[in-house]
Amino acid sequence: MADTYPVPAVWAEGARVDVGGRAALSAQAEADPTGFWLKQARRLDWIVPPTVADESSFEEADFDIRWFADGQLNVAANCIDRHLSDRGDAVALIWEPDDPAEEARRYTFRALHQEVNRFANVLKAEGVGKGDRVTIYLPMIPEAAFAVLACARIGAIHSVVFGGFSPDALAGRITDCDSRLVVTADEGRRGGKRIPLKANVDAAAERVPGLTRVIVVRATGAEVPMAERDRWYHELAADVSADCPAEPMAAEDPLFILYTSGSTGKPKGVLHTSGGYLLWASLTHEWCFDYRPGEVWWCAADIGWVTGHSYILYGPLANGATTLMFEGLPTWPDASRIWQVVDRHQVTTLFTAPTALRALMKEGDAFVTATDRSSLKLLGTVGEPINPEAWRWYHDVVGAGRCPIIDTWWQTETGGAMIAPMPGATALKPGSATLPLPGVAPALVDEKGTVLEGAAEGNLLITRSWPGQMRTVWGDQDRFFQTYFTTYRGSYFTGDGCRRDADGYYWITGRVDDVINVSGHRMGTAEVESALVLHPKVAEAAVVGMPHVVKGQGIYAYVTLNAGVAADDALRSELVQWVRREIGAIAAPDALQFAPGLPKTRSGKIMRRILRKIAEGDVSSLGDTSTLADPAVVDDLVANRVG
Ligand code: WTA
Repeated sequence: MADTYPVPAVWAEGARVDVGGRAALSAQAEADPTGFWLKQARRLDWIVPPTVADESSFEEADFDIRWFADGQLNVAANCIDRHLSDRGDAVALIWEPDDPAEEARRYTFRALHQEVNRFANVLKAEGVGKGDRVTIYLPMIPEAAFAVLACARIGAIHSVVFGGFSPDALAGRITDCDSRLVVTADEGRRGGKRIPLKANVDAAAERVPGLTRVIVVRATGAEVPMAERDRWYHELAADVSADCPAEPMAAEDPLFILYTSGSTGKPKGVLHTSGGYLLWASLTHEWCFDYRPGEVWWCAADIGWVTGHSYILYGPLANGATTLMFEGLPTWPDASRIWQVVDRHQVTTLFTAPTALRALMKEGDAFVTATDRSSLKLLGTVGEPINPEAWRWYHDVVGAGRCPIIDTWWQTETGGAMIAPMPGATALKPGSATLPLPGVAPALVDEKGTVLEGAAEGNLLITRSWPGQMRTVWGDQDRFFQTYFTTYRGSYFTGDGCRRDADGYYWITGRVDDVINVSGHRMGTAEVESALVLHPKVAEAAVVGMPHVVKGQGIYAYVTLNAGVAADDALRSELVQWVRREIGAIAAPDALQFAPGLPKTRSGKIMRRILRKIAEGDVSSLGDTSTLADPAVVDDLVANRVG
């Protein structure tokens, strides 16, 4: 049986929400949803306060996700302006550069206000207005925060693309949302290495005729060629004022698009809107992390993922927090870096991914114990299931047994945490994200859609809307409905498997669809397969997940070559490099097996179940292979398994 960690006394006494409080919030959300949500919404600063809350329906006939529809607000004003009067001189953003020898930078709310206004005026001068899409392809530098918040200020829709994506992946995302303007930097830096962001944008631009303006932030000072469409940010910024009114936005006006991988096809543009999203980011940041003024909050994600959106920027800033942004890598210059940053900035709460913990754990405790870490009060994780061993290491070694571990389960689609502990209210079990937050309605179902009660294992659904829910797939409402609301009619299907124990605790078991969670990042098997088959020597490819000690899941690719092509190690590395170039390093296969044939049914469908088993090394239980068109291919696959 899993052991339980009770709420520590200091938390039981001092937290905003205690056990009774959590139960009361959940009960209120059930009993009077409208009253509950309108009351919660008051934590934001509304230009016009909403009088309606949830007007969503998951049914096909009147399908819609809509919250606080008659309210008006500006998200950037909520994150900055409203804090000016009482904490204008408090630090809003701490920037810790890649190189520890360099000085950190600090921006007060007042300074952030100026920077964001200036960025907003630069965008306006370029003709960007409400509803226009701006693609942001920046490293983890303060300008990334300024650019994002500047879009929110003027009502432009940002689409942040992770700096690790290739020119091709970037071009696809620029095209999909039809953005005419990209903000980038000369180069990015990570772990002492340079990332040629501007060169990547140049390569992408060749494929996107509609891209007419590229604004380049000078980050490293590298020489980069400037074409007709390119402008230096610092030159444009010199000519604009630091005063820019915040655009009043309807609660349901779009705030951002963020591309994420699914089971099939190209990445989807997940759309979040203004009111509900900001409320959810802000509320969950408070519920899960109980932030207090003066504390230093550090979410060690990249701004290119939803965690960076919700918990580096929107949630904490809406709550008036001091948020730390880190340009570097946990393992550079050595495995002590995270803990040194914690000490240097007296970080109170650290929020990171299990994969980072596993990478640091294997370097040994000395890198941790050499540091002080006494400023820490809470530790959070997100992005993938955390194995109990990593959980205990985080709790016992990093937190010296003092800090509750806040394991938050959620998704790009959910906007913020959904199943998670509250530090003053929830006893913890290593490996469990614990309980649904107030207002969140999960259900477990079997394959047929029968709802399972009590202790059970099945597929995880959410049966009614919550404020942070995504509103649509950009430009494709039908794909939104088909992807999430047709597997189990009337509910949102998460794509995750989950077990609920006798105490009602939820244990996420991982994706049950064709999404692989690599180091906490989502990768669609179909995307990697399409990249592989683009190679002239490849006839066919099938990609599955496999267990990986640090990444959680790795990528295992089966490749069938064209007739007459020799399978050798040189070609194997060439194909791995190829995927890296086509999509980005996060998509590079960890194992690649040449397969003369793939296991297919007589109707030609690849049997991924068998491929998964072989990749996992679990070849004793391949199940029934008699329905295969050619059962003999399986013997070859088993015999030539790699890794
Ligand atoms: C997985 C990241 C277990 C899950 C915020 C989900 C988790 C996918 C957890 C979403 C967790 C996220 N425990 N699994 N605490 N958090 N996941 O969209 O499979 O990048 O569906 O959002 O990550 O990944 P995404």
